[in-house]
Amino acid sequence: MDGTIAYRSGILHFLSEPSSNTDEKSYEYYPDGILIVENGKIKAVGPAEQLLPQVLSSMPVYAYHNHLITPGLIDCHVHYPQLEAIASYGEQLLPWLEKYIYPVEQKFSDFHYASDMAEFFVNELLRHGTTSALVFSTVHIESVNALFDRALQKNMRLISGKVLSDQHIPEALKNTPEKAYAESKGLIEKWAGEGRLGYAVCPRFIPSCSESLWQVSKRLMEEYPDIHMHTHLCENKAEVEWYQKLFPKSKNAVDILEKLGALGSRSIFAHGVHLNSDELQQLSKTQSKLVFCPSSNLFLGSGLFPYKQAQKAKIDIGLGSDIGAGTSFSLLDNLCDGYKILQLQNETLSPLEAFYTATLGGAKVLNSDKYIGNFLPGKEADFVIWDTSKVPLLNHRYQQTETINDKLFLLMMLGDDRIVKQTYLCGDLVFNRLA
Ligand code: GUN
Ligand code: ZN
Repeated sequence: MDGTIAYRSGILHFLSEPSSNTDEKSYEYYPDGILIVENGKIKAVGPAEQLLPQVLSSMPVYAYHNHLITPGLIDCHVHYPQLEAIASYGEQLLPWLEKYIYPVEQKFSDFHYASDMAEFFVNELLRHGTTSALVFSTVHIESVNALFDRALQKNMRLISGKVLSDQHIPEALKNTPEKAYAESKGLIEKWAGEGRLGYAVCPRFIPSCSESLWQVSKRLMEEYPDIHMHTHLCENKAEVEWYQKLFPKSKNAVDILEKLGALGSRSIFAHGVHLNSDELQQLSKTQSKLVFCPSSNLFLGSGLFPYKQAQKAKIDIGLGSDIGAGTSFSLLDNLCDGYKILQLQNETLSPLEAFYTATLGGAKVLNSDKYIGNFLPGKEADFVIWDTSKVPLLNHRYQQTETINDKLFLLMMLGDDRIVKQTYLCGDLVFNRLA
């Protein structure tokens, strides 16, 4: 977006991880605030009474009374090829993969099909207020090309990559390590750093990759210092028992990953439901990241993510919808499920922690916090305007609520895509709810 525009509304963003429910240093909240966007970047944010005098004569001011502006939400783990298998009945992880997921992923060898699905997927993210995502494609380069093509067209900060898998999976989803290396390299050269795109090497999970394939992942990570590694870890008990059979000499899953050279500050592990304290320590020591996928963990009956233990171990935690195991694109719905998952462990996910995880926390997990995650001057202007009036029950409670903590808690318990009024990428309006 060229030019300078000011948005006047309630405004919230985070400066650091909140250490408690009342950690006022970790965020800035302006009940009547101004956000100034210049040429797609944040120029300034602050209280209206302070900023209004400088903006009134020099730029348009769009005022949104009774609305809230936050940074765009960040989905740190989602599968775009699984849209067609969302809400598939009756199974837990391993049979669910075999019965529903592997069949639909095979369709993504067709570029035109993949393009249609990618277009639908990117629009769904934006419609739900999600402005950035770390996305699983499939093993087919067509699937990656189709997604990057769409995301580039929207100017979205999105990370994806080709899935690596060469065993315990149908033939049509297998690659040899040689082909995996050559195709991944081609995709990285073509896409990484184009617009706001990033690349992640995606070994699917421990059982689907031979040691030679993990070596391919490691080699690519060494050759390209700006790319990421994205995989699944310790999601389901039967899956973890399988690891033990495949690597009988290793003491646990994180030990396996260490031997495979897969830990590190650019490594992002989805789930981590079944991790013990040694494993959490090892992830922390290597600055590896975890992604909490609440709706998925409930849908597949995977278990209760040890959020507080991971947080205590000082591991960066992002939030993932994990569509199609997750049942909602809405990260608000996922925070609602996340809160309940912590309740079942006699813990609480505070609204501040929740919204931090969905914004700046996610940006840190993706090593993208120098570009996105909050409204510090110079960052890319990805933001959402929330309008509670579309959900009467939420609105009724929200308008009577004074504190930002209580307001955020209502948004995460009762809000969803209906309250996304507008979504912006680099200051450009990319979703506008008309009714
Ligand atoms: N583990 C390996 N592959 C998958 C997948 O596609 N979805 C989920 N939820 N877990 C996995
Ligand atoms: Zn997943």
